[in-house]
Amino acid sequence: MVRARLSGGILCLLAILILMAAPGLSAKNYLFKTCEQSPFCRRNREYADRATAAPAAWAPPYSVDLATVSFETGVLDGTILKSVLDSRGEPTVAELPFSLVFLESGSARLVVDEKRRLGSPIDGFPSRLTQRRYNEASKWAVVGDMTPDISAIDISTDEERSGGIYRIKYGPNHSFEAVFSASPLQIKFLRDGEAHVILNERSLLNVDQWRPKPTVENLAEDPSLANEIDIKDMWEEDFGGKKDMKPKGPEAVAMDITFPGYEHVFGIPEHADKFSLRETRGGEGNHNEPYRLFNVDIFEYDVNSPMAMYGAIPFMQAHRKGSSVAVLWANAAETWIDIVKTRPNPEAFGTRKSTQTHWISESGIIDVYVMLGPNSASVYQQYGSLTGYAPLPPIYALGYHQCRWNYNSEDDVLEVDANFDKHEIPYDCIWLDIEYTENKKYFTWMKPSFPNAEKMMQALDKRKRKLVAIIDPHIKKETGYKVYEGLVKNDLTTKTENGKEYNGWCWPGESAWIDTFNPKAIEYWKDQFKPGKFCGYEHNLLIWNDMNEPSVFNGPEVTAPRDNIHYGNWEERDVHNVYGMTFINATVQALAARQPRQRPFVLTRAFFAGSQRLGAVWTGDNAAKWEYLDIAGPMLLSHSIAGFGFIGADVGGFFGNPTTELLVRWYQAGAFYPFFRGHAHIESKRREPWVFGEPYTSLIKSSIRLRYQLLPSLYTAFHRTSFDGMPIMRPMFLIAPDNEDILDIDDQFFWGETGLLVKPIVQQGALSTEIYLPDDEVYYDYFDSTIYQGLGYHHIEAPLEKIPVLARGGHILVRRDRYRRSATLMSHDPFTLVVHLDNAGNAAGVLYLDDGETTANIRGAYSHRFFMFSSQDNILRSRSMQPSSVNSRSFEKTIDTVRIEKVLLVGFDMDKLKSATSVESFQDKKSWTTEITVEVAANGKASVITVRDPKVLVTGDWSIQF
Ligand code: NOJ
Repeated sequence: MVRARLSGGILCLLAILILMAAPGLSAKNYLFKTCEQSPFCRRNREYADRATAAPAAWAPPYSVDLATVSFETGVLDGTILKSVLDSRGEPTVAELPFSLVFLESGSARLVVDEKRRLGSPIDGFPSRLTQRRYNEASKWAVVGDMTPDISAIDISTDEERSGGIYRIKYGPNHSFEAVFSASPLQIKFLRDGEAHVILNERSLLNVDQWRPKPTVENLAEDPSLANEIDIKDMWEEDFGGKKDMKPKGPEAVAMDITFPGYEHVFGIPEHADKFSLRETRGGEGNHNEPYRLFNVDIFEYDVNSPMAMYGAIPFMQAHRKGSSVAVLWANAAETWIDIVKTRPNPEAFGTRKSTQTHWISESGIIDVYVMLGPNSASVYQQYGSLTGYAPLPPIYALGYHQCRWNYNSEDDVLEVDANFDKHEIPYDCIWLDIEYTENKKYFTWMKPSFPNAEKMMQALDKRKRKLVAIIDPHIKKETGYKVYEGLVKNDLTTKTENGKEYNGWCWPGESAWIDTFNPKAIEYWKDQFKPGKFCGYEHNLLIWNDMNEPSVFNGPEVTAPRDNIHYGNWEERDVHNVYGMTFINATVQALAARQPRQRPFVLTRAFFAGSQRLGAVWTGDNAAKWEYLDIAGPMLLSHSIAGFGFIGADVGGFFGNPTTELLVRWYQAGAFYPFFRGHAHIESKRREPWVFGEPYTSLIKSSIRLRYQLLPSLYTAFHRTSFDGMPIMRPMFLIAPDNEDILDIDDQFFWGETGLLVKPIVQQGALSTEIYLPDDEVYYDYFDSTIYQGLGYHHIEAPLEKIPVLARGGHILVRRDRYRRSATLMSHDPFTLVVHLDNAGNAAGVLYLDDGETTANIRGAYSHRFFMFSSQDNILRSRSMQPSSVNSRSFEKTIDTVRIEKVLLVGFDMDKLKSATSVESFQDKKSWTTEITVEVAANGKASVITVRDPKVLVTGDWSIQF
């Protein structure tokens, strides 16, 4: 048996090698489908070609039954009819009920379903084959209020309505309008009278209607049926020797979405590609393939590619001067997105093109949310009010994480831990990859090397550090392995199309997969994490969920067969992109149940819209090559604007061995990734920060220490995103929304609330770079206060020890400058405020503080401060931003001795100084003076005034007069 499997594997490998020898083919081309190889994608692309080749002559088979259309209490609904031939070749119609719901939150939602599959059994067919379309992607993705906005009003005239036109005013102050036209079917979304999003502008709406599988007999009766129904593709499929029995037949849904006058669209992670999405139908610099959303284990992925990766967020934002809008295509099945740009339409939009997109999903319903902005901040807020905001993570999760596949024993772990201290490098979490387990059986330990995990955990805890252990969703099929036996006994695994336990191959060999769609499976999972069950000391144990696409080594496209069955009788095909999210959801629930007062931390590889509510994500298996460092920036920006701000890329590159230069540059960039983890493949050489000796150890150390210094500002940015969705890594257009020259720039970004503009060095040998300033504000080199000003590119030196970071005038950032072993140990350290003045001499900033670990913050146990420097009176002020409560006061009591130990005022006009030697501070009705040191502006550098120990306390209101 084992030999048979092995030889099968070897044959497969040989086939891959032979194929790879063919020019232009990589293992990935062989393993993963193109649109042409995906029948529903191919059919819909052909449909689009027919529709767009001669639009005037194009008559789509869809119309609206006007008698069914009505508008009431915030909902416009009715039925779309599709004219088709039945199995006897007779013309008939498929009814597609639709509803357009105007939500109180300001978004609009269009749902198109299929009546025939809506539950009522069809004579002569087993119910599973006629089951309703999967309509629960929104259930996982969307947690916001779905209440229709009853104040939405129909402003159409009787004449318009009888012609099938409905105009509905909705949104804030009725500034949004949806214009529904029945013929041709189209929905235009306007803001302040101008169209921003058009659904079905090109009539590419296409829904595969239910039909019986053609039999040999009825084909013989009427051979013309074979033209419409390509049995091979629609009723079964074969890819790479793996059969997909498609018992329900073709079920695809598709529609086009146009963004008129928007030349740039962003989002739909995850792809290793530019931030501004490319066109996908050929042409120089464009792709030939649509962007694909299908969660797969794509090791060492290609860069600059639209290929599918580990996660899928079907959210797209369009931005142009003065406007930002977005859509969410809430469908969990495999989805392809074609993007084309029109020729400029000078009358309507000057030189700007429009972007036309075409969304194609294998099954499920059409479920689209339209967000009309008007700006990026409101788009993120609207998206967050639908899919939820990322909760504030524990502060240690924002520190540095040290991982490799693998730290091999308890001694190894503790030695790495000690080395951080020896080299005085802070870090918070050390990670254990799969080798800590006994033969890849999760919840067990490889006893010879990890004989006493409890002791190891305690030793780490003593130094206020955490352990993150990997737990994957594949469970080794082995008699006597309790976790597996429990799964089987309780019937909690995913199933084959015949309803049997599904088995495939992953790290442990033959495995079963936990079906975390099943509420009982979640309870079972929680049980595995009960105190004492896993390692006996869970206080500082966090979890890493990997391979949850799911990755199945011998499955089609390295994942589960699409005809597998999940809880609720849904096929893998229907729920695929959401499975990974259900798995981390179970883990998060397990950690929360185990330690209800602690904020859980879980890292996931697979994700869907809404996964930001659960944890952090990383970009999977990159490589120790410059192009992967380069692409990480644009990738992280795409995640960031799609709601998933807690994101990082493996620092150093997972596969291979980085040169010292690459490693140093990667740590510099990584210090600004929202999630900052060094990781390496099992065959890569050791590369912990001290391995290469000087000067590299010091260079890496200074990047990690910079991260720790900036933690208060980073934590504050995470706090902001937790209530309004504002990303941590911010694209240029968020800061300069009216500058259209920057929409293509994705190699630099703004960081949180700090005004820091970061441009990592991502080219080998580069010792300088050009940094683009998107506006006329004054910028200061963060490290030496050199002034940069003026729209456009500026040259900046970047020797190996320096990452180019400029501070935009107008912001106050908050640091903690003392070295500590971990983030948790910094909780009582004093603060430094760095005030970067803007052109008008003003600046403002925010600081959010809480205990960093527990859920007490939700009950108001935090402190929120606002700092402001005004050029009117040259006073730096601190004020509270929160209502005082018992909980806030009791938290503030725990830090009531924490002071501001330093203030740096950058760019101040010295002539305005009241005293050249001191400042006056005021707090609690007292005042005192503090000496200052002054560096006057010279040689292109700004003036810097340093106030050492002004003795003001962080929790109270105070002011400092300069
Ligand atoms: C694949 C993950 O992407 C990688 O980070 C991990 O080291 C390996 N699985 C082994 O668990």
